[in-house]
Amino acid sequence: MEPNTQRFLDNFKTAYAAGHFLKCTLSKPTPAAPEGLKNIYQRPVDLKKGPHIAFTFRYKTRDEVKNFTAPEAARQLEQLLGTVFLNADLFTTEQDISISFGKNGLAAISLKKPAQTAPADTRHNREKQRLLDPAAPWLHELGITNAKGEVLHAAQDKWKQINKFLEIIEGLLHEHPLPPDAQIADMGSGKGYLTFALYDFLSRQMGLNPHITGIELRQNLVDFCNKTAQKAGFAGLHFIANDINDFQPERLDLLIALHACDTATDLALAKGIHARAGIVIVAPCCHKQIRRDMETHNELEPILRHGILEERQAEIVTDGIRALLLEANGYKTNVFEFISTEHTAKNVMITAINGRRWTVDGRRAALEKVAALKAGFGIQEHYLEKLL
Ligand SMILES: C[S@@+](CC[C@H](N)C(=O)[O-])C[C@H]1O[C@@H](n2cnc3c(N)ncnc32)[C@H](O)[C@@H]1O
Repeated sequence: MEPNTQRFLDNFKTAYAAGHFLKCTLSKPTPAAPEGLKNIYQRPVDLKKGPHIAFTFRYKTRDEVKNFTAPEAARQLEQLLGTVFLNADLFTTEQDISISFGKNGLAAISLKKPAQTAPADTRHNREKQRLLDPAAPWLHELGITNAKGEVLHAAQDKWKQINKFLEIIEGLLHEHPLPPDAQIADMGSGKGYLTFALYDFLSRQMGLNPHITGIELRQNLVDFCNKTAQKAGFAGLHFIANDINDFQPERLDLLIALHACDTATDLALAKGIHARAGIVIVAPCCHKQIRRDMETHNELEPILRHGILEERQAEIVTDGIRALLLEANGYKTNVFEFISTEHTAKNVMITAINGRRWTVDGRRAALEKVAALKAGFGIQEHYLEKLL
């Protein structure tokens, strides 16, 4: 091996072993580099599976992250230095080392005082307040950011909603971690804002290798999302033009259905319950089914003659029964305001974790509550109950 390359690699290995390694950057790609690849950034990360080095492959329009163990990372560097990249800068808490290759294949090394002496922050999700990088190219493709990675004024609400959604996911994963190859479905995925955000978050921040399917009736949105996923290099993200009802998942670790219209939420919940999905998240919208059938025979009758109050009551009853039916099937549920009404009117979220605490008595108690509610509000059937 070229002597200065060997010296650079030795420094990399020693710094990493001693805990001095901060980051390393490869630049000046040669024609041997994959098309569009501009740089590779490396930093140490603590993953569940142990300490690794995260390589961010920065392409013109997307980033790809791969995690390597220290020996694998050293082998990668050995293959890349001088052949795929002509420059590399290694930053450690002891010294900074740069290597650059000339046309003759020989390398020159320069040493500098360290720019940073504090140890590296190896937390995987070190920027707690920011679960998504606004510079992610897919955000621009979806019209959330401009070409400089700045969130557009008109997309501020969407941006807040996406980030809040990821915060909720992060919290749920503490309680119910996903397997590394998590199988996920987004039912009624629309333009895919939340689907892309989820994929980005789980793969980059959580180090998982998720397989996410977006199910959406509208073919044009499915085509757009598949094209965007391909551009972003999100190999495990796919969209299919299908009715939720016809989707037959083999395994489901996480199901999301946000703002799926009326009974599409019930179709999604039924799919999740039948597949025994580990986590189910829905944010219902346009509750029509119960409202149509509701004939109140309880003490609320005099106030529900006001249309707006009846509409709100119908939403409460619909979602309340959904939560009870999830509980009857062994899920631990939570119903809460997803995001302030200032940002969206569709703001109730139901999250459910498969608690495996199913008992005959628990089921009976939940179903009795459903029956009592139906009787009190004169409801013949709740669509989810029928599906189950
Ligand atoms: C209001 S959008 C929500 C999109 C996305 N989930 C979000 O929150 O940004 C609802 C989407 O669900 C789709 N949809 C409604 N019923 C469906 C069904 N039965 N099967 C598949 N998609 C459905 C609609 O076409 C629409 O794009």
